[in-house]
Amino acid sequence: MSNKILITGASGLVGRALTDSLIQQGYKLHILSTQKSKVNTNSYPKTFHWDPMSNELDLRSLEGIDSIINLAGAPIAQRWNKAAKSEIVNSRVKSLEILAHHIKTHHFPVKYLVTASAIGIYSNSVTQYYEEKQAQFSSNSFLSSVVQKWEAALGAFDNADLKICILRIGIVLDANGGALPKIMFPIKNYFGAALGTGSQWQSWIHTEDLVGIFSHALKSKIEGVYNAVAPNPVQQSELTNTIARIVGKPIYLPNVPQTVLKLILGEMSAIVLESQRVCSKKIQKTGFDFKFHEVSAALEDLLRF
Ligand SMILES: NC(=O)c1ccc[n+]([C@@H]2O[C@H](COP(=O)([O-])OP(=O)(O)OC[C@H]3O[C@@H](n4cnc5c(N)ncnc54)[C@H](OP(=O)(O)O)[C@@H]3O)[C@@H](O)[C@H]2O)c1
Repeated sequence: MSNKILITGASGLVGRALTDSLIQQGYKLHILSTQKSKVNTNSYPKTFHWDPMSNELDLRSLEGIDSIINLAGAPIAQRWNKAAKSEIVNSRVKSLEILAHHIKTHHFPVKYLVTASAIGIYSNSVTQYYEEKQAQFSSNSFLSSVVQKWEAALGAFDNADLKICILRIGIVLDANGGALPKIMFPIKNYFGAALGTGSQWQSWIHTEDLVGIFSHALKSKIEGVYNAVAPNPVQQSELTNTIARIVGKPIYLPNVPQTVLKLILGEMSAIVLESQRVCSKKIQKTGFDFKFHEVSAALEDLLRF
């Protein structure tokens, strides 16, 4: 078996950390990027161009590939107007479809696919504790419908002889991007406050553990759906207060009401207001050990100066 891996969405928050780690582990990487300026096919990591929205893919990217890691998708944290919503869904669905099409049409012997998905698939609930098999999906949440369509697009790989692993990722905590710097900004500037009721569950994961889960999947070739969240989700007010304590800033303002968040962020306020308490036991049972179990330890690691 070769150690050549194809990775999509490699320039993103997760992709950057993951590619660094995989290169250090000795994998040879092919990258599919939507940015033509990144193309480099001379030395590893080799970067090839694709544009799933226009059905374009450089077939050389699939040559000699044993496994694929799929992280591609247009950013969720943007104003959800009609065009953005369509891009958020279609970029994810078409990425999987074009990969499946070329693997099947040209008989590329890819044996394993591990793809990002998201815990936004689960219904908004402060009482449910979501395991993968007892999933309840919301019919009227945009985020849930995106992820349902994303996972359904994996049907394009039916009859392709490869194993598939779906990682339903929680809120990725990273000092350099994603949700954390956005949550920290008001706290650092003395106008921090819990959001909405503050009781909504936020199932988080430290980037280092997420990178570890992708690496673990590649090595053990686990199949099926796994939640990629730390063992101890927290409620939003605890997340806010823990960050405030670590950065040494007081929280003296009352919670930001849901109505205000909806006015400022529009429908996208769902990202911070929806509640999903998600269980990590299934991935742990495959032998994966988390480094960061508690949000305080994760934040202290990420925010130490
Ligand atoms: N970060 C989180 O908290 C979180 C939580 C749950 C799930 N996820 C999912 O995990 C995946 C990776 O997350 P991330 O935070 O690393 O995302 P990210 O920073 O937004 O990166 C995603 C990458 O996808 C590629 N991309 C952008 N628009 C695209 C399009 N229209 N078509 C195809 N590819 C496109 C880009 O790579 P190129 O420019 O190189 O093409 C981009 O760097 C995403 O699909 C995300 O939805 C993330």
